[in-house]
Amino acid sequence: MVSVSLSTSKPTTARADALVLGIRSEEDHDVFGPSLEAVGFTGEKGQVATFPGGDLTRARFVVAVALPSEPTAEHLRRAAGQGVRAATKGSATSVAVALHPAGVDEVAAIAEGIELGAYTYDAYKSEKRGKGRGKGGSKRKKDKLTSAVVLSPFARQTTAARAVERAATVTRAVNTARDWVNTPPGDLRPPAFADAIGTHAGDTVKVSIWDEKRLARERCGGILGVGVGSDAPPRLVSLTYDPPGAKQHLALVGKGITFDSGGLSLKPGASMQTMKLDMAGAAAIVTATVAIAELGLPIKVTAFACLAENMPSGTATRPGDVLSMRNGTTVEVLNTDAEGRLVLADGLVLATEGKPDHIVDVATLTGACVVALGDNTTGILGNDDEFRDLVFDASKTSGESMWPLPIAEEMKEKVTSSSVADLRQHNPKPAGGTLFAAAFLREFVDDTSWVHLDIAGPSFNEGSASGYTPVGGTGVAVRTLVQVATELADAR
Ligand code: BES
Ligand code: ZN
Ligand code: ZN
Repeated sequence: MVSVSLSTSKPTTARADALVLGIRSEEDHDVFGPSLEAVGFTGEKGQVATFPGGDLTRARFVVAVALPSEPTAEHLRRAAGQGVRAATKGSATSVAVALHPAGVDEVAAIAEGIELGAYTYDAYKSEKRGKGRGKGGSKRKKDKLTSAVVLSPFARQTTAARAVERAATVTRAVNTARDWVNTPPGDLRPPAFADAIGTHAGDTVKVSIWDEKRLARERCGGILGVGVGSDAPPRLVSLTYDPPGAKQHLALVGKGITFDSGGLSLKPGASMQTMKLDMAGAAAIVTATVAIAELGLPIKVTAFACLAENMPSGTATRPGDVLSMRNGTTVEVLNTDAEGRLVLADGLVLATEGKPDHIVDVATLTGACVVALGDNTTGILGNDDEFRDLVFDASKTSGESMWPLPIAEEMKEKVTSSSVADLRQHNPKPAGGTLFAAAFLREFVDDTSWVHLDIAGPSFNEGSASGYTPVGGTGVAVRTLVQVATELADAR
């Protein structure tokens, strides 16, 4: 965590190792003009340049980042993230960030960009191999950024201080979700993940963990059927935050496959390499729930993290097996790699039983969604256009790229076309895979207002870091979920 404070200082007088300076296009670059010119800074979109502080500022070096002439909150979030990453590369442990926020919301966006951009995952890097770049080019542990000061004329306003505090709470949630996704899958199997959730929730929210025996008594055949091939048994973790005076109740459900090998419908080796990401939905709903509670939002939240490891073995569920879900609906399993919808079915039934006003589930559900929307955009599906629009709008406010997809009418008959059970879990034709999966999930929410977020693309960054998005787990959906809760609480 970076400790973020506010100051009305000028860029030239702020004290820090590095100064992150936003350069708006067509701006008079005053005292920094000659230095910018010397390093060839043209202000082109996405450009970053570093030069020594010299006599111009108290900082050891300056990181110039390009901004459009009227930057949005998301431009500032990205520029702050990009700036602090460049500052950390130069071994800065403190930064002053001068990005010309137009108001308090923009100050909060800068604080978010700093906290999210400074994130690194080095839990498994050994100390003894030293700092900087080691043999073979692999990254070693580096000095971390510990403090940042955001320069703004609004620094003394209490609303600005409160916005920065909110940003710290929300980004801590995002960074915890990232840590869990990045943890090697052998070290975060369902029992360990359930314990980690309990520890993270602490006393902030009520936590209850169902083990495999309890899951059997509670008729959770989907979670059990997916987890039965692994010698680390499945878990269901439920969280409850029920503040006095709450008028709305939001239920959250998350896919928590701690490793997805595909089961007996085994994935090819290359497709398995990133499948520790398959619990990113559970990570997002848990950390968002804790953040909502820490913020004290006046809304009831119940969350259900469905944890299982999808492994092939002599005890694994076979294609052709029939599972009976929590609500008694029977499902013919035809491809054990379409496991997410099976664990979510039980989670959605449990969520529905609490009679919430709305349900949101979050899942790395289908490769088809990555084909449709690319690896940066979440698919939004559901059974309630009005609530879907609320979630879509919240995603725009939070700066997370999401886009609606339909549940095409013909999917209903495909889902109900099993000759042996009530539903079939897998459509033999891959076309519209995301829509089919959502149509399957819809069978388990009755008429409750429900949105499904397919985060298969944006949950994990396999490329290089950009903006405030690091390599690996991204913590996607956490910020949108907190925003949805904020709006529902406001609208009551
Ligand atoms: N966990 C995967 C989906 C996934 C793919 C997430 C790529 C992130 C990146 C899911 O369980 C899965 O394997 N889905 C199958 C479904 C198919 C068998 C109907 C898929 O998308 O191929
Ligand atoms: Zn799968
Ligand atoms: Zn999966």
